[in-house]
Amino acid sequence: KKSIFSGMQATGTLQIGNYLGALKNWVQLEDEYECFYCVVDMHSITVRQDPAELRKKARALLTLYIAAGLNPDKNCIYYQSHVSAHAELSWILNCYTYMGELNRMTQFKDKAAKHSENINAGLYTYPVLMAADILLFQSDLVPVGSDQKQHLEITRDIAERFNGIYGDVFTIPEPYIGKTGARIMSLQEPTKKMSKSDENVNASIYLTDDPDTIIRKFKRAVTDSDNEIRYSREDKPGISNLIDIYGAATGKSVAEIEKEFNGIGYGDFKLAVGESVVSMLKPIQDRFDELSKDKAYIDGIIKQNAEKANYYANKTLRKVQKKVGFPERI
Ligand code: TYM
Repeated sequence: KKSIFSGMQATGTLQIGNYLGALKNWVQLEDEYECFYCVVDMHSITVRQDPAELRKKARALLTLYIAAGLNPDKNCIYYQSHVSAHAELSWILNCYTYMGELNRMTQFKDKAAKHSENINAGLYTYPVLMAADILLFQSDLVPVGSDQKQHLEITRDIAERFNGIYGDVFTIPEPYIGKTGARIMSLQEPTKKMSKSDENVNASIYLTDDPDTIIRKFKRAVTDSDNEIRYSREDKPGISNLIDIYGAATGKSVAEIEKEFNGIGYGDFKLAVGESVVSMLKPIQDRFDELSKDKAYIDGIIKQNAEKANYYANKTLRKVQKKVGFPERI
């Protein structure tokens, strides 16, 4: 069976971009692949976190993976910090990554600009830890939103470099970017991607938003001054983003949507988009509330899946340690 790895940061509350760009696709792959989905809490501390909050958010995220439809018997759902091989492989790969490569990472540049008071080494080597995540599980596919493409490219470069020296150690992973929802934009500044760390709460629809909030945020979404529901990322970024969201939520194509709303005003269109998102999120929210009450069940998943992840990760790690010349364990 081929394998899949992906992960999300446990910072902030997930927004619909995380769901439509990644999580929703994960749910569709569980039968065909051996899947590993990680809560990347080690990546989260590249930005200062409140410890109690981080713990709470990590657990909520893990619960949300299941609430969104990932079957924990078929998918290995676990915390990155529970599998020390992530850190160990990351160190080794640091020694096979050039500073020049890391200097080119746009996410680092963006984050460094945003957190200029704390440009730490972890933020800089973040993509190497991500490469370790993916390569540990010999992943064939990595389902992500399009903003992670550059990180996938550096992962492939590191893996190819390592394989070039030591033979076929790592599977070279491919990104899996969905046709719809790969890049959901901010509702307030539709030329910027929707992000869970956006300070303007009206810019994002969070997975925890109630129906009234969702409808209100869509009503306030920034659009344009003409009156035509037509897809054009360049001329009409706001309307195009709403078409993307509606399409991803309902499975309808752009052409179908343009036809459906031909001659209809922005107000009604926004309401329809809002309602489609409400019905998409409702079952997830209900399941999340239910699961959150069942402490023993979630604890069981955390324990079992960490064991499984450790088993697979250590297999790759031992192989790598041997290749680079670390002494054998006696
Ligand atoms: P993170 O936590 O920022 O985002 C999680 C996933 O959501 C996608 N995403 C979006 N998709 C569409 N539109 C948006 N506006 C949007 N915003 C976010 C992201 O592309 C991602 O798939 N570095 C990663 C976490 C990570 C990882 C990994 C991912 C760590 N190790 C290994 C894959 C494999 C990140 O910060 O994602």
